[in-house]
Amino acid sequence: MKHLIDKLYETHQLSRDEYIHILNGIDAAASEYLFERARKVTRNNFGNAIYTRGLIEFTNYCKNNCYYCGIGSGNTRADRYRLTLEDILSCCSTGHELGFRTFVLQGGEDNHYSDEDMVNIITAIKQNYPDCAITLSIGEKSYDSYRKYYEAGADRYLLRHETANEEHYKKLHPQNLSLANRKQCLYNLKEIGFQVGTGFMVGSPYQTTENLAEELLFLKEFNPQMVGIGPFIPHSETRYAKEAAGSLELTLVLIGLIRLLLPKALIPATTALGTINSLGREKGIMAGANVVMPNLSPVAVRKKYSLYDNKICTGEEAAECRFCLSNRMKNIGYELVVDRGDYIG
Ligand code: 5AD
Ligand code: FES
Repeated sequence: MKHLIDKLYETHQLSRDEYIHILNGIDAAASEYLFERARKVTRNNFGNAIYTRGLIEFTNYCKNNCYYCGIGSGNTRADRYRLTLEDILSCCSTGHELGFRTFVLQGGEDNHYSDEDMVNIITAIKQNYPDCAITLSIGEKSYDSYRKYYEAGADRYLLRHETANEEHYKKLHPQNLSLANRKQCLYNLKEIGFQVGTGFMVGSPYQTTENLAEELLFLKEFNPQMVGIGPFIPHSETRYAKEAAGSLELTLVLIGLIRLLLPKALIPATTALGTINSLGREKGIMAGANVVMPNLSPVAVRKKYSLYDNKICTGEEAAECRFCLSNRMKNIGYELVVDRGDYIG
């Protein structure tokens, strides 16, 4: 086990069988060894700096119906909302004062916002905050739309592939969605010039160890600038309401492996990780993550952006997320920095 971790540390890749061997056999002691190696890589590349992104969840309308997701169109009980340009700029204003230099605009696939609307939003944020990066996370769009967003000033794009296995993809998504299109979108985004983030859920329904090995192979092949992973967490109004959540330990192991695989990648300790364990995000950093994405959405809508049950940071304490995270990072010897936190290749 240790020799495989050392091999990954030195060569940044392993074979499918080697990943499977690690994932099937890793115990607590070997995990600790992995995390220590991963932290060393993070420290060499980023020191003790943790980058932060202000997450603005601007619409929970979605035309898709991914089987795992709480804001899918099939959930008729979801309380839908959309933020206006003014709402979004007000989030950015608060965020900028708090020291955010990246804003992530995330939403369901909501055609209410035309390309022109998105371009207007991007242009306005860039005009008001020229020192900030804009990340979009609004799903699958045409090459042409992506190009318009990029030309308007968007810098980065998050689009998790969710699973790199065609059959598994079909178990998680309705027939009209395909892994092929998802991957095409990712390659288009890269070609246009975005810093691209992808990723997957750990412990999603029907996921196997082989699938996870395929995730790692795909990540190596695609070589994204950012990798977001988090545990699957069931949502009560979806078809997978009764499925078990992904495990904390396995998620941490994958963070550690991905850090060794892609040493310079920007890897968030996600909200889902913080949801399944009260110290999940700290543990994520200690396993090799180097980014946190506190919520900047207006407190009034946060509960409505419910991808999964029991999501943290949706109550009264929510306005304090940046301070909360800053303290949490200090407690483990890291520091939230005021910085765009671009990928340095
Ligand atoms: N549990 C965990 N993560 C989820 N996501 C969507 N639904 C869930 C869930 N039930 C993740 C997906 C998506 C990202 C925005 O949130 O991976 O890409
Ligand atoms: Fe949101 Fe701590 S990060 S309350």
